Amino acid sequence: MLYRNFGKPIFFKLDAEKAHHLVIGGLHTTGKLPGGAPLLHMMYGVKEIPELAVDLFGLHFPTPVGLAAGLDKNAEAVAGFSAVGFGFMEVGTVTPLAQPGNELPRLFRLPPDEALVNRMGFNNHGASQMASRLEALSARPIPIAVNIGKNKATPNEEAHVDYEKCIAALYTQADFFVVNISSPNTPDLRNLQHGSELATLLSAVMQEIEVHNARMGKKKAVLVKIAPDVSDEELTFMVDTIQKSGVSGIIATNTTISREGLTHENAKETGGLSGRPLTERSTEIIARIYKQTEGTLPIIGSGGIFDSQDAYDKIRAGASLVEIYTALIYKGPEINRQLHAGLLELLKRDGFSHISEAVGADHR
Ligand SMILES: Cc1cc2nc3c(=O)[nH]c(=O)nc-3n(C[C@H](O)[C@H](O)[C@H](O)COP(=O)(O)O)c2cc1C
Repeated sequence: MLYRNFGKPIFFKLDAEKAHHLVIGGLHTTGKLPGGAPLLHMMYGVKEIPELAVDLFGLHFPTPVGLAAGLDKNAEAVAGFSAVGFGFMEVGTVTPLAQPGNELPRLFRLPPDEALVNRMGFNNHGASQMASRLEALSARPIPIAVNIGKNKATPNEEAHVDYEKCIAALYTQADFFVVNISSPNTPDLRNLQHGSELATLLSAVMQEIEVHNARMGKKKAVLVKIAPDVSDEELTFMVDTIQKSGVSGIIATNTTISREGLTHENAKETGGLSGRPLTERSTEIIARIYKQTEGTLPIIGSGGIFDSQDAYDKIRAGASLVEIYTALIYKGPEINRQLHAGLLELLKRDGFSHISEAVGADHR
């Protein structure tokens, strides 16, 4: 209510990126104030519900809905986001070196389509800044995934070095890593998803993580985040390569470059489209991955989740966890309580006593 009636009308009058900085700044400050995080938790938090808690990748996720990458690119508001009902969050995409990203404006709302178009281009403060911020956290109530990418100036042949550098700089601070090769806003990045480039990159990434895992006696997971704009053949190949690489899971999906069925004039802007137009396509990709891997490779579902039915559809298609970004902008932090209450009802309706029983249920 608070967001819909007061926050959103103000934020939506501002330029989209300015509103974004206000939210991050506000959550950063509130999270740091004594009593700030407990206050946010009281207003928007979600109590752990045993039926919805997930144990995966050697981690405990108190709730199954996470914050997708790109909102807290620099890990500036982790305490705040951790308090508003998310079961995990991704920070980043972070690159080895700080970079400014693309020219402004680069973030656009499409309200009638419940969508956003962004061409941010991995604007971020760099891996060492992020490591210091995460190190300074006084508490970590939810798992934190570090989403990693390559600097714009790094050619694809050298991309693996950038991913290795990010893992080395952030290994102790990340609970798990997400290899982002699916942003449409870094030239040629998505080529890393195809052909021999994918196997080469993932082999380098796995070698790097295994060195750190062995040294620290841990088993930190690496996931790969993929794009929705792939043919069936490309997807089959990608999933096969990802599975063979020893990676722990897939995030499906990132934003799309498709512009089908949009009404708002901002549809003409270049960049990745997120939100409602992505709902069905990302669920379809999740279903295909689950089917191909026979449920052996955990999937985090991302793309156009606005209500509990959207989240549940992705879980039944094969997602073990889900995450949101655009719906948080349109519906505010109230959405987390709605999603969890609705998910619990849907599980009960279908006779499941735990969320894990619903994962991939559409295939049985
Ligand atoms: C403004 C914006 C910035 C984003 N930045 C990143 C990013 O840096 N890395 C990434 O992996 N995904 C990024 N994403 C994609 C989201 O993490 C998410 O996968 C996508 O938006 C689909 O989910 P949604 O429909 O709930 O927003 C970004 C999305 C938006 C809207």
